[in-house]
Amino acid sequence: MAELRIEGVHKHFGDTRAISGVDLSVGDGEFCVLVGPSGCGKSTLLRLIAGLEEISQGHVWIGSRDVNDLAPKERDIAMVFGNSALYPHMKVFANMAFGLGLAGADRAEIDARVGDAARVLDLSQLLERLPRQLSGGHRQQVAIGRAIVRKPQVFLFDDPLSSLDAKLRARMRVEIRELHRRLKTTSIYVTSDQAEAMTMADRIVVMHGGIVEQTGSPRDLYDRPANTFVAGYIGSPAMNQLRARVGIDGASVDIAEATIPVPDWHAPPGTEAVLGVRPEHLALGDDGIRVQVSLVEAIGADTLVSCESAAGPLVARLRERRALRPGDRITLAPRPRAMHVFDADSGKRI
Ligand SMILES: Nc1ncnc2c1ncn2[C@@H]1O[C@H](COP(=O)(O)OP(=O)(O)O)[C@@H](O)[C@H]1O
Ligand SMILES: [Mg+2]
Repeated sequence: MAELRIEGVHKHFGDTRAISGVDLSVGDGEFCVLVGPSGCGKSTLLRLIAGLEEISQGHVWIGSRDVNDLAPKERDIAMVFGNSALYPHMKVFANMAFGLGLAGADRAEIDARVGDAARVLDLSQLLERLPRQLSGGHRQQVAIGRAIVRKPQVFLFDDPLSSLDAKLRARMRVEIRELHRRLKTTSIYVTSDQAEAMTMADRIVVMHGGIVEQTGSPRDLYDRPANTFVAGYIGSPAMNQLRARVGIDGASVDIAEATIPVPDWHAPPGTEAVLGVRPEHLALGDDGIRVQVSLVEAIGADTLVSCESAAGPLVARLRERRALRPGDRITLAPRPRAMHVFDADSGKRI
């Protein structure tokens, strides 16, 4: 196991800037999740760490080694992909043993390591099967097993659950975390699913357009997003973002016709701003944002109410079971200590 450090990394493919100056440290034994929209550079960053792409500028360190000039097989890293192809004509055992055989391990060593990995993943009963005789979830476990047997210093997962259905994904998330709890191998896990990132990560790194927007625990990112991008990306349904201006007292925001005090907060009066409120932090009230209901969706315990306001559209997630219909005019009150204010120009939290 080892710490992983990325310093000032850039990568361009011709004119395409895939990564534009990324710094990141992943602690020994940490489970770090990289999340961001498609095309933001997640896979490229993993491939740079693995040595599958050449870095344009910057350094990657694994433990005390600068690995920039090391070939992929010398970096002691194992990678698992979403569509990990198994060798179709080889049984599970042989698929898991393949890399070890290439690395010159002897028969006893291979038996022991594959046996251990199969036990950890609960695959012992399936070692004599061919890939086509396995479910999608089991195939993905075999791909993970193939990575584990090598006992690498670092695991890189590139959206490993993307090909599985929702139920299996949920189960595999738990299994991968459980596996990490036992092995404690430093891991970077890429996903474009923010809910997956929130449930799995010790620490989340939010990427966008080849840069890191924010790094923090799932709770940090939910409670204190650093900018409007992270605010909109983490959480579902997404945080509402309304046109606003900092009030003349510098301790409130004016949105449309309402003035809403923001507790324990100060900003220059008159600043053009964005008020962020999560759907779950809005309630029916007398003081607040006047809206007109456009859509009502019952989702089990809660009701999602989509509305129009003079400051832009918004969605409320309400607990109370009041019958609402499109066209109704209601007032939504933001929970005072759950409001976020961002500068309208820079998008940064203020
Ligand atoms: N081999 C390549 N040649 C040219 N452009 C590439 C190559 N690989 C990735 N890119 C570009 O780099 C950007 C980041 O891609 P990628 O790392 O695959 O994003 P993600 O994994 O977050 O979806 C995209 O604009 C993509 O088109
Ligand atoms: Mg990718």
